[in-house]
Amino acid sequence: MNLWGVLVFVAVLCVTTCSLQTDQRHWKDLAEKELHEALQVKWNLGTAKNVIVFVGDGMGPNTVTATRIYQGGETHRMSFEKFPHVGLLKTYSADKMVPDSACSATALFGGVKSNYGTLGVDATVRRNDCSASLNKEARLNSLAALALNAGKSSGLVTTMRVTHATPGPLYAHAASRSWECEASMPSNAKQCKDIARQLVEDWPGRDLHVVLGGGRQVLVSNSTGTPDDPISSWSCYRQDGRDLIDVYKKDKETRGLRYKVVSNTRELENVDDNVEYLFGIFANEHMKYEFERNKGPEGQPSISDMTKVAIKILKKNPNGFFLMVEGGNIDMAHHRGRAKTAIDEAAAMERAVQLAINMTDEEDTLIIVTSDHTHTLTINGYPERGSSIFGIVRESPFDQVNYTTLSYGTGGPGSFQYSVETKDGETRVMRRDPSKEDTESFMYEQIAAIPLDENSHGGGDVAIYARGPHAHLFHNVHEQHYVYHAVAYAAKLGPYSNAYSTQISLGVIFMTVLIPFL
Ligand SMILES: *[C@@H]1O[C@H](CO)[C@@H](O)[C@H](O)[C@H]1NC(C)=O
Ligand SMILES: *[C@@H]1O[C@H](CO)[C@@H](O)[C@H](O)[C@H]1NC(C)=O
Ligand SMILES: *[C@@H]1O[C@H](CO)[C@@H](O)[C@H](O)[C@H]1NC(C)=O
Ligand SMILES: [Zn+2]
Repeated sequence: MNLWGVLVFVAVLCVTTCSLQTDQRHWKDLAEKELHEALQVKWNLGTAKNVIVFVGDGMGPNTVTATRIYQGGETHRMSFEKFPHVGLLKTYSADKMVPDSACSATALFGGVKSNYGTLGVDATVRRNDCSASLNKEARLNSLAALALNAGKSSGLVTTMRVTHATPGPLYAHAASRSWECEASMPSNAKQCKDIARQLVEDWPGRDLHVVLGGGRQVLVSNSTGTPDDPISSWSCYRQDGRDLIDVYKKDKETRGLRYKVVSNTRELENVDDNVEYLFGIFANEHMKYEFERNKGPEGQPSISDMTKVAIKILKKNPNGFFLMVEGGNIDMAHHRGRAKTAIDEAAAMERAVQLAINMTDEEDTLIIVTSDHTHTLTINGYPERGSSIFGIVRESPFDQVNYTTLSYGTGGPGSFQYSVETKDGETRVMRRDPSKEDTESFMYEQIAAIPLDENSHGGGDVAIYARGPHAHLFHNVHEQHYVYHAVAYAAKLGPYSNAYSTQISLGVIFMTVLIPFL
């Protein structure tokens, strides 16, 4: 070998091994950073003064993965994905393998599994059985109620009607989630009170410090709609002459409480610091999707806007607070088979989580991010790295038609994209070609395998992410109703109020003892 030969040999050797090493280095750095982070994790044995529970409705693990890729690609980590403790929750209900939001929220916030479609009552109450739901023993005391009993403030934020399935179990007890107002209650349920009335007339609803969301047509009789905020004919429409927003005001006035009622973004942002009780109803129906809401001052606030004001008000209580925040439109969009809208809603909730992190102290605030149940969303094989999560993977070698990265197991009419064609006596099943449609649109409906009236919930486990005091209690595969018990323990509420002696960290001693002298 002459000199040239040696040089070429060395160069070739370097190109192969040096580049290999650079490539390995990238992955090793990534893993070492994670390892370093993992080694820093220490259990926080303090008591949770504040608790914030985020519920991404219908936000199963595939939705979380898709949201991460949508926000920043495969290696991106969302705010809650950096939380030190993660577990899984089994979401089956007392009677069904796959739950609805009412029984799953009852598990999360009421502490027991219950029957599909029931809310704030135990499994002795069958769906629609009004008299069984009146049994005192069957009625559950929610985490919001336990927090109030402990002298904390309590509140809820949702993009749904405030009387809907996920917030409902925080304050109401009903044999059916449909009993949001009197108009949808059957004649044999006359002794039972509708969910909206329970919110403003009964305890703990009337003592909640913050209630923000939609649902005016459920609260105020004969509400009128506008093109921007229509009345929905398929959800409860109050007609009994009651104006429950007025009932709310009178109750707070009678009790001499400082309150405010708001109905758009401007009013929400102008809520001043001395308000103790805030009631914000921003829509007749559920609130609008993030991508289509009016973002001006007269429009509907975002989930972040609501979360910010909620924390501001609740934080004033020196005993701390309990807050539930629901990203409900994730589920709504999935039911319509519109994956991009669902994922965009999950991204909006993720931003609210980051805001909650910024506004609180990890030392005394337990933040939980979880879901009530999954949907049947799938991430199909094998799109290239860096491609759009809403894009097309490739042609199927079987029917020579493209397929999308995302699809559903079940779906409504728009998701059932098959037809039968008979040509020359031969019958073939045809699949609609997604490459001829705008799959990046918020309105696009991905294909589903099984036609139903709408996309159904899924039965897979959901993840639970936690940071703050006793976050390590979420560490393996848990029952969904365990969340109530772990939160009550972490915050020393109800049955767990004397479970352990409060640990005071050196940081807290420093802050309270030394700061005044500095
Ligand atoms: C609401 O509408 C119903 C049915 O049309 C009517 O009977 C009732 O009087 C109305 N209530 C109010 C408060 O206007
Ligand atoms: C949270 O704080 C970080 C760091 O200060 C900032 O960059 C980020 O914009 C804040 N996010 C929100 C949602 O407030
Ligand atoms: C599949 O989609 C790609 C673009 O993503 C397009 O170039 C190709 O023509 C499509 N194939 C068929 C058979 O429609
Ligand atoms: Zn749902």
